[in-house]
Amino acid sequence: MEINSKEGWLDISVDPTLDLFSEIQQLKKEKNAIVLAHYYQDADIQNIADFIGDSLGLARKAQQTKAEMIVFAGVHFMAETAKILNPTRKVVIPDLLAGCSLSDSCPPTLFKKFKEKYPDHKVVSYINCSAAVKALSDVICTSSNAVSVVNSFSKEQPLIFAPDKNLGRYVNKITGRNMLLWDGVCMVHELFSQEKIIKLKLRHPAAKLIAHPECEEAVLQLADMIGSTSELLKFSQQDSSQEFIVATEAGILHQMIKNAPQKKFIPAPPNNNCACNECPHMKRNTLEKIYTCIKYELPSIEMDEELRTAAKKPIDKMLAISMAAGL
Ligand code: 13P
Ligand code: SF4
Repeated sequence: MEINSKEGWLDISVDPTLDLFSEIQQLKKEKNAIVLAHYYQDADIQNIADFIGDSLGLARKAQQTKAEMIVFAGVHFMAETAKILNPTRKVVIPDLLAGCSLSDSCPPTLFKKFKEKYPDHKVVSYINCSAAVKALSDVICTSSNAVSVVNSFSKEQPLIFAPDKNLGRYVNKITGRNMLLWDGVCMVHELFSQEKIIKLKLRHPAAKLIAHPECEEAVLQLADMIGSTSELLKFSQQDSSQEFIVATEAGILHQMIKNAPQKKFIPAPPNNNCACNECPHMKRNTLEKIYTCIKYELPSIEMDEELRTAAKKPIDKMLAISMAAGL
């Protein structure tokens, strides 16, 4: 079976009359497969998933699952992390080209050169990076545990934080550090408009602004609460407010509305008129591609064993720190 290499997914036409929901359920049973989906996936993909989570939750689930096949409805670095943690499972991804602007901003060869300039620094890398960058890092973090991971180093230890400068700046502020920041951004979170959010807040004075730390500082300064996708979801359920302006990828609104249908959720507007609060990488996945990738078990994530073990070390360290912090 050939993968259309230019496109990154199986170039097979799917009968449009198929009930993909029941076909996928059937294939999952037949093949002992589990579908893991990030909160930024389309609603229909979230609805067929066995587990929906943020980057940390998904990594943990991928590590623990006994299923023979992991179908990763997310982006490449997430599926790669699943393979690093659980190499005996087959890990498939609906579209190999589902990348991430943060990961793309940090080519391993450039990062290695940067790191060599600061031999006394330890490296904390956000999980949104390639296995090769992970292998160059001392510890990985996600947006759920970045503060705990950074605080696991003594104050005297100089640190490099890569690749998200917005998350790094936010963690610097919370921890009182001065980490060196790699100059990467998330193409979705950097586009929320401070000006439009201020206007929206004036029109909805009771609404709380909840924001992901990948957003720019100007947006974070306006936020009533800052957190990872799972933390934003939890807050929107538990807080007494009835209205929220949500500054993160719009896919999360599906679970927010499902969990608190009586509340109002307003997606934060980007600074132009595009649908830029949707991640084009996450949105490459479709039900059709999920169906073909379970059926034909392609595209799959394959890794060099030396790279895998080198990348696993800092991820294991992160998981241990998270566990100790009760996250
Ligand atoms: P979390 O899943 O850690 O909230 O990160 C969001 C994100 O942008 C994933 O790519
Ligand atoms: Fe990467 Fe941003 Fe898309 Fe997440 S939302 S996968 S950080 S580009």
